[in-house]
Amino acid sequence: MEDHSIKVNFCSSEKEKPKSDQLQFGRVFTDHMFIMDYSAPLGWHDARIVPYQPLSIDPSAMVFHYGQSVFEGLKAYLNPDGEAQLFRPEKNLQRINRSNDRLCIPPIDEEYALKAIKQLVAIDKDWIPEAEGTSLYIRPFIISTEAFLGVAPSHNYKFIVILSPVGAYYKEGINPVKIAVENKYVRAVAGGTGEAKTGGNYASSLKAQELVANSGYAQVLWLDGVEKKYIEEVGSMNVFFKIDGEVVTPKLNGSILEGVTRNSVIELLKYWDIPVSERRISMEDLRQAHQEGRLEEAFGSGTAAVISPIGQLTWNDTDLIINNHETGPVAKRLYDTLTGIQYGKVEDPFGWIE
Ligand code: COI
Repeated sequence: MEDHSIKVNFCSSEKEKPKSDQLQFGRVFTDHMFIMDYSAPLGWHDARIVPYQPLSIDPSAMVFHYGQSVFEGLKAYLNPDGEAQLFRPEKNLQRINRSNDRLCIPPIDEEYALKAIKQLVAIDKDWIPEAEGTSLYIRPFIISTEAFLGVAPSHNYKFIVILSPVGAYYKEGINPVKIAVENKYVRAVAGGTGEAKTGGNYASSLKAQELVANSGYAQVLWLDGVEKKYIEEVGSMNVFFKIDGEVVTPKLNGSILEGVTRNSVIELLKYWDIPVSERRISMEDLRQAHQEGRLEEAFGSGTAAVISPIGQLTWNDTDLIINNHETGPVAKRLYDTLTGIQYGKVEDPFGWIE
């Protein structure tokens, strides 16, 4: 019978850990990483935890040329008892398999991958930072490694998990950011790869972000790729608006990523009996709601930033100032509750913590 155990090769000397109150996002990596390989007829095999190190990959590996790759992002937190805990990790593993399917990558065994992630986090547990708002970001990813320049699904892959102690994603933290509505570039279209978590979506988002960054905007608001009328996402996050007491978020349509935080926000709002709906929202509807004083709050949601309030949306020459550039009560309550559950400080009525 095949051996599915995870072999562990510990590092010989530990790296110096950063001060937890000075952490940025995604710049420092822990002592170990997880890897397994895929090839026929073995399938996924050779699972191992090894010292964090550079990879040796053929320059003709398909991932470098055609971008056949997927990734995920989740976090480990220290609870008040000093134990490591994860937030809805099975959602990320279900999604990586949906992304795999879209990118023609063979599926992984979700339970096995979760076991691997937990073992890796346990080994590098001392890297989970303690300062408020910090956590250990977990980045699972799969790359196509076959040495071949033909455009076709690769026959070989690596599934890798790396860990990074992180602070806030945006320097603004929970303070509202300025967002520019993007009229020229689009992030994704239905039928494309927008609902998969694949690097190409992020590569194609860079140009728009770079162009607005010089004018003090943190990110862009993405409109649909066909009519450029309907709101889709904000930066690399899902987006929510509170209009007339109801919280709305764009309905999943094939080009929007199904965020784990997005889903958690919807579940929490329902639990609090705050009206919430998933539907198509046009930029014109939003402008009108703002003009009539009905746009109460706007915020992005994602694993990295959790909740990121939007204080200003600039659309063509119009600035929509939202909630006087202040963090709104719903955004604040969501942030406090989500992070409270994640850090084991408030009750978790949903069983989201593992
Ligand atoms: C998130 O909001 O968690 C993201 O997906 C951003 C990530 C690519 C850094």
